[in-house]
Amino acid sequence: MYKTHTCGEINEDHLGQTVVLAGWVNRRRDHGGVTFIDLRDRFGIVQIVANPEICPDVHKALSVVRSEWVIQVEGIVQKRPEGMANPHLSTGKIEVSVKHVNILNPSKTPPIYINKEEDADENIRLKYRYLDLRRERMRKNLILRHNVVKFIRDYLDERGFLEIETPILFKTTPEGARDYLVPSRVHPGEFYALPQSPQQLKQLLMVAGIERYFQIARCFRDEDQRGDRQPEFTQLDLEMSFVEREDIIQLAEDLFTQLVNKIVPEKKLFASPWPRFTYTEVMNRFGKDNPDIRFGLELVDISELVEKCGFKVFENIIADGGNVRGINAKGLGNYSRKQIEELTEYAREFGAKGLAYLAITTDGKEKSSFAKFLTPELVEKIKTRMNACPGDMLLFIAGEKDFVLESLGRLREHLGSILKLRNKDTLAFCWVVDFPFVTWNKDENRWDPSHHLFTSPMPEDIPLLDIDPGKARGQQYDLVLNGHEVGGGSIRIHDRHLQEKVFELIGLDMGVARERFGHMLEAFEYGTPPHGGIAPGIDRICMILAGEPNIREVIAFPKNQSARDVMVNAPSPAEPAQLEELHIKIIDNK
Ligand code: AMO
Ligand code: AMP
Repeated sequence: MYKTHTCGEINEDHLGQTVVLAGWVNRRRDHGGVTFIDLRDRFGIVQIVANPEICPDVHKALSVVRSEWVIQVEGIVQKRPEGMANPHLSTGKIEVSVKHVNILNPSKTPPIYINKEEDADENIRLKYRYLDLRRERMRKNLILRHNVVKFIRDYLDERGFLEIETPILFKTTPEGARDYLVPSRVHPGEFYALPQSPQQLKQLLMVAGIERYFQIARCFRDEDQRGDRQPEFTQLDLEMSFVEREDIIQLAEDLFTQLVNKIVPEKKLFASPWPRFTYTEVMNRFGKDNPDIRFGLELVDISELVEKCGFKVFENIIADGGNVRGINAKGLGNYSRKQIEELTEYAREFGAKGLAYLAITTDGKEKSSFAKFLTPELVEKIKTRMNACPGDMLLFIAGEKDFVLESLGRLREHLGSILKLRNKDTLAFCWVVDFPFVTWNKDENRWDPSHHLFTSPMPEDIPLLDIDPGKARGQQYDLVLNGHEVGGGSIRIHDRHLQEKVFELIGLDMGVARERFGHMLEAFEYGTPPHGGIAPGIDRICMILAGEPNIREVIAFPKNQSARDVMVNAPSPAEPAQLEELHIKIIDNK
């Protein structure tokens, strides 16, 4: 071993002891001829000192070292002089007086700062990820992620779950994204698909009688990148037999409640038990199915109050079957015309035709973009409906219902930022249930499953599949945390006939269905237990627990926003010989 102790563990208990340490030079300073180095390893930082009067050779050797050099030192732990203690370091009361030094490896000047938090271009950080990961923030994120996964494993192990690995080279497992394909050399012209999730495999494990399965599973989805999406990401994939929706919800709620208490005790849960909303309710109140419920600003329907108010914009839209809904932007009642114009511009960016307002200034006066049509009675009715008081700003969007909900939902998020309503130490988990079983795909003129193909409809809604599929609800549940969908799951179909009926409903040709999913249909004929599960996204949950703005910060080696690994430069062209072996011809369509 190169060291007797880690840098982080040395403290007053070691006073007078000789220790051997090895690590990186975090920072070097010279004071009055004496050299001080903060020596860093994964476990912490300790100060080492070299005094030219005590050990001239050591002092000389250390005078050349620079940041990020790797060194080994032997020295004696001593108390720091009076007034020199550093309360920010666990090792801050002591230092190591160096007797021998061994330079293990020098370092070029790193292209990013490691010893201080400073914004660097993300592509540089990703190109030199091995340096980026040396930073305190990234080290903490990796530790957090380790702790989260370890907690999950222990928790599920104690409850009889088996962790089982499933194949990566597999067949299409659709979750709504494109597949990544892997060409087969042995079978010319044939491809494996990387699983978008282990969905079918975990269901087959239920057929196999495993009853309680989980896996920290890598999933692959070729879809547009966003801050909380990566082409490959990790789920806690979980499945249980002989369960109902409530059993899975209770398990996940208890798991993550305990996880938060243990791993991030400084964070507070917003509510316990976690709030539960139906899909319809969550859309009407927040305008999106993954709401941030740390703040209010809920959407309010005022359509019937204004349908005959004389304001043509509202009247015509309502007459055409549309809606007028609003948000009470608490505290913005004194906004200037220019500030209101900025909000309107924001709403226009996502397609709103306008943003009507009714402001109630702090001295109780009303100002409105449709003042002409507002009788005192109507103002009172709107104020009561929207719970308005002096100092509030009521904002309205009129239009087709889904559009109004979506655009007000976005405006609500924006107002949450303007009003700084998101407490970063609050974790607001909630459940969304009773999703529509299928949604209409206008472009392709067919029904799409709103979760995935294997989700079961509500038993009482099965007859609706024949008469009014859009009204049927699915046995699906989404787990939402601080405005992000962090998990999804469902009770599954375990009956061949119902599964075939669903394939048919979504317009999957039976021949294609059998080719792709024949193994599932067949398995369902061999005594399949009722089963269901869930898959919380580990990256998204860690991102929120770490307070990071995107999931790349909690992944050791992520892809950048254009799905590229800039450290190794992947994807990259293949050798002609490799392509030939794989029977692949590249068609250059640039
Ligand atoms: P779903 O598709 O809802 O369900 O995914 C579950 C969770 O996985 C995370 N997630 C992602 N995280 C990062 N990058 C991505 N591209 C990405 N896509 C999804 C989210 C999401 O909530 N097989 C079902 C689960 C089940 O029914 O049990 C499934 O995969 O946090
Ligand atoms: P106009 O009649 O277009 O001058 O609009 C009068 C007011 O109605 C302005 O305040 C507009 O911002 C507002 N307005 C117009 N269309 C809409 C709409 N679809 N939703 C909400 N407000 C609107």
